[in-house]
Amino acid sequence: MKFPILAYGHPDLRKVAKDITPDYPGLQQLIDDMFESMYESNGVGLAAPQIGKSIRLFVIDAEPFAEYEDNLTAEEKEKLKGKKVFINAKILEESGKEWSFTEGCLSIPGINEDVERQDKIKIEYLDRDFNKHVEDIDGILARVIQHEYDHLDGILFTDHLSSFKKRLLKRKLENISKGKVKVDYRMKFPKK
Ligand code: NI
Repeated sequence: MKFPILAYGHPDLRKVAKDITPDYPGLQQLIDDMFESMYESNGVGLAAPQIGKSIRLFVIDAEPFAEYEDNLTAEEKEKLKGKKVFINAKILEESGKEWSFTEGCLSIPGINEDVERQDKIKIEYLDRDFNKHVEDIDGILARVIQHEYDHLDGILFTDHLSSFKKRLLKRKLENISKGKVKVDYRMKFPKK
């Protein structure tokens, strides 16, 4: 089943999500459906709050970046590939220099902006079988994780932009919440 993606302005995108336990109803199916929804909309990540579920779960498959970013080593490309599930994740540490990368979001179609974030993270999370992992991750994969992790705390990438940039985007964002945007996947618009 594919979920509609909540659009910018939907109050559920602003909630702080809660941890889950292995007995969360229909969890494995939910994870599969989130991947299906993500691939359908050509995303590289999807967080549960984006489909209206206020739980600390996100899925990632950053393979498109392996194909389109030229300056990556074979090893770096390999790391981006494949389905990854993050449950009850905690970013324990962010380090390294800030770097700029153009981000987008399935909840904010048609807007792509440069966001500055630190380069490295140490993250603790559970996979879909509730096995615990602690990993050091950097580069684009860290970036995708930081973006998805923000969703769990009700934060969107546009929140990281300068107030000047935010003013410039205000009207576009308004239009997105009203459904006045071209998008080829199913969405739920809060002001339509
Ligand atoms: Ni997003």
